[in-house]
Amino acid sequence: MFITFDGVDCAGKTTQSAMLYNHLVLQNIPAYLTKEPGGSYAGAKIRQILVSEELDETEKLFLFLADRANHVRTVIRPSLEAGRVVICDRYHDSTVAYQFPLLDGLNQSTKDDLRNIATRGLEPDLTFIIDLPAEEVLRRMKTRKDNNILDKDDIEYYRGVRNVLNKIWENQDENRVIVKIDGMMGIEYIHQAIVKWFNHYRKV
Ligand SMILES: Nc1ncnc2c1ncn2[C@@H]1O[C@H](COP(=O)(O)OP(=O)(O)OP(=O)(O)O)[C@@H](O)[C@H]1O
Ligand SMILES: [Mg+2]
Repeated sequence: MFITFDGVDCAGKTTQSAMLYNHLVLQNIPAYLTKEPGGSYAGAKIRQILVSEELDETEKLFLFLADRANHVRTVIRPSLEAGRVVICDRYHDSTVAYQFPLLDGLNQSTKDDLRNIATRGLEPDLTFIIDLPAEEVLRRMKTRKDNNILDKDDIEYYRGVRNVLNKIWENQDENRVIVKIDGMMGIEYIHQAIVKWFNHYRKV
């Protein structure tokens, strides 16, 4: 079973994906926790470029997609085939919310092609989109120390990202299950909700 977490910066994706992973390990459910970008050996090098170089939006898009194609081929698919629940901190929904809106002239069929090429056709079985108001993103970012050049200090930017993620949730089709989570709730409360959804949709 392939589970992804998405949401604006500081929504709690890393916190909650780690908590779900720990829960599965305690339940003796084979699990693997990974992230994008940087979840594979080559991907870690791609991440290093993304967080340290001044790149334009086209260059970033293709690095994110290259990272994903490598991640699916070398890490995610082999883990799924080994029977593990794979939990991924960010996946293609992040590309749709962060990169696609910044590139002019991408029509829907191009976006669909890029998605299929990068994911190699692998769609998540279950996605948690953690929703957070842009004001709270900036508030949490100020109290966090490990920000990088992909993090912006721009409230309109995060409003836009949040809107796209909400549209992804609203427009989900029958091939995918996307659960929206209120990121303003307490960490433990959100974790319990996620465990309930996992048990509901569990495919192992
Ligand atoms: N439910 C919550 N309530 C309050 N603070 C939270 C909550 N969840 C996470 N935080 C805090 O917000 C900050 C960001 O959390 P976290 O790193 O999990 O977010 P993220 O979505 O992975 O962010 P990024 O997209 O930048 O990787 C951390 O300081 C974390 O402790
Ligand atoms: Mg994170």
